[in-house]
Amino acid sequence: MVAAASASGASRDGWSSRSAFILAAIGAAVGLGNVWRFPTLAGESGGGAFVIFYIACVFLLGLPLVLSEIFIGRAGQTDAVGSIKKVAEDSGASPRWSIFGAMGAVAAFLIVSFYSVVAGWVLYYAGVMGWDLLQAIGSGEPFRGALVGESQEMIQGRMGNLFASPGMLLSMHLLFMGLTLWIVARGVGSGIEKAATWLMPMFFVLLVGITIYGAVVGDMTDAIKFLFTPDWSKLTPAVMNSALGQALFSLSLGVAGLITYGSYIQEGSKLGSTSAAIAIADTSVALIAGMMIFPIVFAVGLDPAAGPTLVFQTLPFAFQSMPAGALIGFLFFVLILVAAVTSSISLLEVPTAWGIGERGWSRHKSALIFGGGAFLIGIACLLGYNVWADVRLLGFWSLFENTDILDTVDGFTGKVMLPLGALLTSIFVGWKADQKMVQDVTGLTGPMFGVWRFLIAWLCPLAVGIILVTGLFPSVLGG
Ligand code: PFF
Repeated sequence: MVAAASASGASRDGWSSRSAFILAAIGAAVGLGNVWRFPTLAGESGGGAFVIFYIACVFLLGLPLVLSEIFIGRAGQTDAVGSIKKVAEDSGASPRWSIFGAMGAVAAFLIVSFYSVVAGWVLYYAGVMGWDLLQAIGSGEPFRGALVGESQEMIQGRMGNLFASPGMLLSMHLLFMGLTLWIVARGVGSGIEKAATWLMPMFFVLLVGITIYGAVVGDMTDAIKFLFTPDWSKLTPAVMNSALGQALFSLSLGVAGLITYGSYIQEGSKLGSTSAAIAIADTSVALIAGMMIFPIVFAVGLDPAAGPTLVFQTLPFAFQSMPAGALIGFLFFVLILVAAVTSSISLLEVPTAWGIGERGWSRHKSALIFGGGAFLIGIACLLGYNVWADVRLLGFWSLFENTDILDTVDGFTGKVMLPLGALLTSIFVGWKADQKMVQDVTGLTGPMFGVWRFLIAWLCPLAVGIILVTGLFPSVLGG
């Protein structure tokens, strides 16, 4: 089985080694979800209880699903739809299960469209802080604080000004999507793998460096207390729901991303330890990102529950009064940008691989069609902040009646498509796939296999099913 799959995949582009795959998969997992969304949610949800519940979700639900997606890709050796079909056929199940691969490709396509818009904000802030740093260096004070001379209102007003400018939002979105498209068009080995090999070490150096900086000049004790001391009364059903959703998003689950990346593995079958490495790295980065951001927020006495603007409005102001704030502020946004690139390429790769595998398109053509399409949808998302501010795409649905275009695409993919994809993955791999094949391909045996099987066949469908229902009908949660 494994040998046959490798033989048929031999002519395909692929990872050069197991460690290249792990690095690329960690690059896919570590993204805006870790450095922007996780601190935002942890801050809004009151810290410790959310964080501990999140970690439990990652290891009890996320990890078994990571292994399942990689298994499908490794066994199928082609795009998500083709891989699911192959596993289904080899297991005597209906090839119609491949529908969740197609749905994943659509979800990844929609996510990359707004992901690029948000990454565009990061690019804009990297530009603002970079310009400020150049001025600091020019005036002979390279280690001064950021944006000196600007009031808190001015600094925080930058975000509103950015949102009011479709031209600026569009330029940043174009740059970011162009970069993503360029890397994906170059292919798996010389595009995606090379990007991950350069960018991920850079990301880790920046992450550790800025965290040490935060520990020295910031308030690490309060940050750790906030992040790890649980106040269980804050663990409401809504908070649990958002922690579960965040675990799926952060591990890139439910959109067939790891099926696609897994299909480029050409050797070895230690998929259990590979999956664990991805889950541990992703979670560690989220926690370290918290320990990087909150000491700085607390040192200046700012509000950890600022919401999605925490990173964009709160932190630049905090950097103003910190030593070397101009330098660190710039590096901070570069760090987020690097994380965003290695994730956006993995998102665009899912539909691109589908175009190559199922339609027979060339890689260039497929990447251009999906990258171009996502760029256009992204334009609609960014216009939703200004010219189309009144547009409510799913306004007839109470869940989305007050959400702008970007939040609608984000909410629909995150609350509907992603949990549905994860639910179908767990049912398919837990109940439909031939379990002997699962053992052969993953290398899982004995009690480890038993534990994994219980989690994927019972706990995941139940828990993910609950997220789906409560996400769609929040009134079930009493709120
Ligand atoms: N895991 C990424 C993040 O945390 O930012 C987002 C993501 C990337 C989701 C790739 C899905 C995916 F296929």
